Amino acid sequence: MRHLMSPLDFTTDELSVLMDLADDIIAHPEKYAHRCDGRILATLFYEPSTRTRLSFESAMLRLGGKVLGFATADSSSAAKGESVADTIRIVSGYADICAMRHPKEGAALVAMQKSLIPVINAGDGGHQHPTQTLTDMLTIRSLKGRLDNLTIGLCGDLKFGRTVHSLIKSLARYENVKFVLISPDELKIPSYIRDDVLRAQNIEFTEVAHIEDVIDSLDLLYMTRVQRERFFNEEDYVRLKDFYVLDKKKMELAPRDMLVLHPLPRVNEIAPEVDEDERAVYFKQGRYGVYIRMALILSLLFPEEYMKN
Ligand code: NCD
Repeated sequence: MRHLMSPLDFTTDELSVLMDLADDIIAHPEKYAHRCDGRILATLFYEPSTRTRLSFESAMLRLGGKVLGFATADSSSAAKGESVADTIRIVSGYADICAMRHPKEGAALVAMQKSLIPVINAGDGGHQHPTQTLTDMLTIRSLKGRLDNLTIGLCGDLKFGRTVHSLIKSLARYENVKFVLISPDELKIPSYIRDDVLRAQNIEFTEVAHIEDVIDSLDLLYMTRVQRERFFNEEDYVRLKDFYVLDKKKMELAPRDMLVLHPLPRVNEIAPEVDEDERAVYFKQGRYGVYIRMALILSLLFPEEYMKN
């Protein structure tokens, strides 16, 4: 049985098979509309979510399956003190596959160890968010046509932003990918990414504080929100929350074919006026999230059929 805990759980060959499957689902949705008839997906969300939970549910429903779950910790027995390990043992008897989001780093891993069904990490604290990475990769491959030879600017909360950590780990495996890390000092990338991934693999990267200084050199600009819920005090959040605002003026400095991505939700870091720019693809990106999750559910439920090497 396969699970998805980290973006590195799939080899690059497996990822490319997964993205090919997503492409086929986009082209021929009717072929897959009943593939999961009679199957159940559980969404166990101990932390707020709009896109991730609903796109998982939409994915399973579009495959003909059914969904059950909870959307907040206080509407589950976690509020009575039940452990993740106990919850997953029970849910293993109620569903065929499960997606879990939890504020604690490593929670999905604990669930996986006790689970009888495939577990998908839908975000664990400030750590990893592998299905957002799959979404980002499908978006980049579809709209840029490649995952190698890219200069990628990542901007905002690089310290707590789990989407950034997962995306760097994953893209670091492709040829000639360079990273431009744009953040205030307080929100710099953690050393387990800077040292253990980038430096360890000799990957080119720079750390800067201002978008304007580097935007003209980027193929992609990945914006992120300041992760309020992971701050220890509100004052720091208030000081840093509007550090970056991508607006029309800054977009004028960007290459004509640079794409702007954002995992969403957006707060103030992208002015709504940028939405009209054809380089702003974050809403399209959300749509790719459904197709890649359809591909993922099929691959984990029917590995012998869909996870060929
Ligand atoms: C992200 C997350 O939960 O980490 N959201 C998402 O899943 N699309 C990004 C965020 O919350 O800022």
